[in-house]
Amino acid sequence: MCGLIGYNGIGQAAHFIFSGLQKLEYRGYDSAGLATITDGLLQYKKDIGKLEEVESIHHISQLPGHVGIGHVRWAAHGKVDQVNAHPQFDEGHNIAVVHNGIVENARELRCCLENTHSFVSTTDTEVIPFLLAQYYHQKGSLIAAIASAIAELRGPFAFLAMSCYDPGKFFACAREMPLLFVSTPTGYMAASDVNSFPDGCNQVYTLEDGQIAEVTSQGFVFYDSTGSIIEKQPEMLARQASAIYVNSSEYYMMREIREQPRAVEQAIEQSAADMQAAAQAIKEAQNVIFTACGTSRHAALMGRYLFSRISKRMSEVIIGSEFKYFSDAICQDSVVIAISQSGETADVMDGVRTARTKNAKVISLVNHHASQLARLSDIVFPLKCGTENAVAATKSYMAQITVLTLLSHYLAGQQHDILKKLKDIIPLVEIAYETNLKRAESLARYIAKYNACYFIARGSNFHIAMEAALKMKEVSYVHGEGMPAGELKHGTLALIEKGTPIVAICPADYTFDDTLCNIEEAKARGAFIIGVSDKHHRIFDVWCKIPKVDEILYPFVAIVPLQELAYFTALARGVNPDRPRNLAKSITVK
Ligand code: G6P
Repeated sequence: MCGLIGYNGIGQAAHFIFSGLQKLEYRGYDSAGLATITDGLLQYKKDIGKLEEVESIHHISQLPGHVGIGHVRWAAHGKVDQVNAHPQFDEGHNIAVVHNGIVENARELRCCLENTHSFVSTTDTEVIPFLLAQYYHQKGSLIAAIASAIAELRGPFAFLAMSCYDPGKFFACAREMPLLFVSTPTGYMAASDVNSFPDGCNQVYTLEDGQIAEVTSQGFVFYDSTGSIIEKQPEMLARQASAIYVNSSEYYMMREIREQPRAVEQAIEQSAADMQAAAQAIKEAQNVIFTACGTSRHAALMGRYLFSRISKRMSEVIIGSEFKYFSDAICQDSVVIAISQSGETADVMDGVRTARTKNAKVISLVNHHASQLARLSDIVFPLKCGTENAVAATKSYMAQITVLTLLSHYLAGQQHDILKKLKDIIPLVEIAYETNLKRAESLARYIAKYNACYFIARGSNFHIAMEAALKMKEVSYVHGEGMPAGELKHGTLALIEKGTPIVAICPADYTFDDTLCNIEEAKARGAFIIGVSDKHHRIFDVWCKIPKVDEILYPFVAIVPLQELAYFTALARGVNPDRPRNLAKSITVK
């Protein structure tokens, strides 16, 4: 997803910005650009493609100057082309802007401005430099221009601006989107993601509610959204080092699948006081709602199941983007449990803000400490799984289900039993990984020939069918569809032909016999059955063997071969599993 970085200092700005942008690559983007100022003039280069491609053509890291701003873009408004890449400029090319977020009223603003100006891009962003130029000419100051311009912008945003009207600085402004500031040994930086700062920069300033920052070669000056100077204190940020990789020829996704035993081990370490406080709030709540997107939503489905099974507490899972449509039922006695690896997903944040306006209690499970979600939560459970680089979530999911398993047991007063069981599961996650590696690789060659693959399961394993299907479609582009096994006969059975791959997650638990009936129905129509189970059955064409574990813990071992299967199917189709087309790691727009 879009990322932005600014630098002002004694070093070569483009060099620091370029290396910061490289650290944002994992988020997914389709174009990149950079602008600096030298001798009072703006210089810039931008293009579509990956950073190294843009670098090899335009040498963006070599742009001269000590002040600069840079951007990687994931197209939301306006197609992927060079003109739409950032920076965007005002008509006179005196102001450069890089921007994250969506200007929700861009169309209206363009209509007003178009009477007197001509736009060159089809982005929403371009209205920002146009507005800045208009207000700068009225007010004579860039801070005043920013304050006036943002009063007209609807929707969350973070942007950096730089101008030859005031060439020794850059400016930054954010509303409801992350924008962080640090001092480095050579200067001052702003970025949308803490990962892009040089190591050791742990004192972080943040912007909120349309606040503005002026970044000079001497430091930061902060302003409120009306342009009055304010004081800010830095926060200490506990940054997590990402895991050390053993084999650098491997894709991130496979490394992260392999790191999952460690993800469980680290996620177990939660504050008992916070667990107790969260359990108490959930017990007292009138209603309990999970909200999340993508893989995190599948973890939430496991949470819902565990709350019911272990704690006898009914709850609901609402997809982040749908949350606001249920806000009538949210009140101060509601508990909202938001799950997000990044803590930045706009749809989740939207729901959480809605919940806060209703005075609901917000509990979050989040991997990024400095995220907005962590800041807006009453209780935060850190996932502690280190940086997840692949777009497809794997180890963060494992950490999420670990925390949810713990929480559901705290809720039932059974925390002591579960701690031991979770520790015992760690080597079994590893066994599930090792046992299936070769099998998943050869099976992938079969699945790669098909356009669709179906995943079925019941009860506590149902969400694994959903998650495995998501993994399959996002990384290999084979359509994956997951469903409760009982639903197969209510529609999807019509699509089953000779050889159609069906993955049945059917451990030898209380779901086995019922799932088997559904497998029989599919087999009778010619389906190719891949059974994921600790128990063999003659109906399986291929058996992915998983270790025997406690009934509620099967998701920990059952998901692993299915992550491997998605990974190898991507490879069998010649697709890079780390960088699926059109997708991004954290989606910061609605
Ligand atoms: C994107 C990613 C998914 C992720 C989802 C939610 O769609 O591609 O892998 O599951 O966002 O992200 P979050 O950071 O909120 O967990």
